[in-house]
Amino acid sequence: MARPAVTVRPLVKDDLDAVMSIEEAAFVQPGTRPLFDEELAQPTRRYLVAELDGSIVAYGGLMLVGEDAHLLTVAVADSFRRSGLASHLLTELVALAQAGGARHLTLEVRESNAAARALYGKFGFESAGKRKGYYTTEDAVVMWAIDIDSAHYQDVLAIIRREAS
Ligand SMILES: CC(C)(COP(=O)(O)OP(=O)(O)OC[C@H]1O[C@@H](n2cnc3c(N)ncnc32)[C@H](O)[C@@H]1OP(=O)(O)O)[C@@H](O)C(=O)NCCC(=O)NCCS
Repeated sequence: MARPAVTVRPLVKDDLDAVMSIEEAAFVQPGTRPLFDEELAQPTRRYLVAELDGSIVAYGGLMLVGEDAHLLTVAVADSFRRSGLASHLLTELVALAQAGGARHLTLEVRESNAAARALYGKFGFESAGKRKGYYTTEDAVVMWAIDIDSAHYQDVLAIIRREAS
């Protein structure tokens, strides 16, 4: 798909105004600025932003916990969706998880979030159960992608990378 080159780099404090405006538009229960400040200070967290023409259009983050990495968030500014940005960002986050020694990835997603569930399905995540009332009025689906250190998973990532570039 044709779009200008995207730059992916670590999220820094100065990016938080732009990140918060995407966060507030993207989520029913957005994270707060102090929460992001705290997150950035944690050594186990890895956050990235995607920039197009110098503007932040997407971000995502994960937490490393031994052999598991927990995908914490991913969001794309509304007018830039469906052009492969989340896929691009996720391939880079997965690479960071692999570099950090993770062998499996997990996440929670709103049961009704069909777009995100489809995105995660592309990355080999499968549903493994629910957390009742995780989002107060809605259950979370718990998803896992296992053996991200395998040759097979590298092939999956290579295909997504090609499609998203
Ligand atoms: C979910 C989200 C991150 C996807 O971002 P995106 O950049 O549009 O995703 P991509 O273009 O990389 O799409 C990758 C795949 O995800 C799936 N997908 C993305 N948006 C979709 C939609 N609206 N409906 C159905 N499937 C969708 C498709 O399988 C798509 O592959 P395809 O384009 O080959 O069909 C974006 O919709 C978003 O920011 N939503 C609000 C925040 C959110 O819900 N984040 C997830 C929290 S768990």
